[in-house]
Amino acid sequence: MFMFFCLFFNLPSLNSDVRPISDLPFYPEGDRLAVPHLRNASSSFVRRTSPNGGVLQDFLNRLPPDWLPDTFLVTARVQRVVPGLYPSPPGYHLDHIPGVTSLDYFNPHVPSDHVICSVGAEANAPSFGVGRVFIDHDPSYSAKIPNAFDPWHYQVEEAIRRGDMVEEILSPNVMGLYSWSAFHTARASEVDEVRVLIRASRPRRPVPLQFNNATLPCCNELYRIEGDRWFAVR
Ligand SMILES: [Fe+2]
Repeated sequence: MFMFFCLFFNLPSLNSDVRPISDLPFYPEGDRLAVPHLRNASSSFVRRTSPNGGVLQDFLNRLPPDWLPDTFLVTARVQRVVPGLYPSPPGYHLDHIPGVTSLDYFNPHVPSDHVICSVGAEANAPSFGVGRVFIDHDPSYSAKIPNAFDPWHYQVEEAIRRGDMVEEILSPNVMGLYSWSAFHTARASEVDEVRVLIRASRPRRPVPLQFNNATLPCCNELYRIEGDRWFAVR
């Protein structure tokens, strides 16, 4: 019923999806701890500096063939996750092109693709909202209240409750391909372990870089939810 209403009034919608593309093997904790922290490193740098048979080199080898060298960036984060806490700020959101702080999601002049993988024994992988979601065009998207969920988080949750979307949890050690229009969120960990989160993103800085490091989460932080806000736990 809701979907017919949205279609009739031509409300903006996004197709949100994730596609498993490959598996990584199991790596012992020592191999996971050996992965360096990377933030938007060029793929050729990662290729040059990572040992063969290691997590990063295996990840690069399993990307689709059209992910050509130097057309994408790699981010890697090693964390000890703890039961009940989130490894990233929770809440359904869309991923920007690295370095782009705001983007008109309804006119994506520079659409982006990402491949993500959570590596570990029970590795806590993100969950995606899969399906069509109708959303308000909220121009204040990037001007968020501190620690509040993304304005679209509640609409995705509602779409899942209504059955217009389904929640799909990416399995540990599975590489998932998704686009700029795929809503996803971190999940609270169920185990205590070291995990590696790797993400490749393209295109590679098509617009001037506008980094604000203060807004980026620190690698060693975990997060909890309290009411309708999330907070970092140090
Ligand atoms: Fe994300």
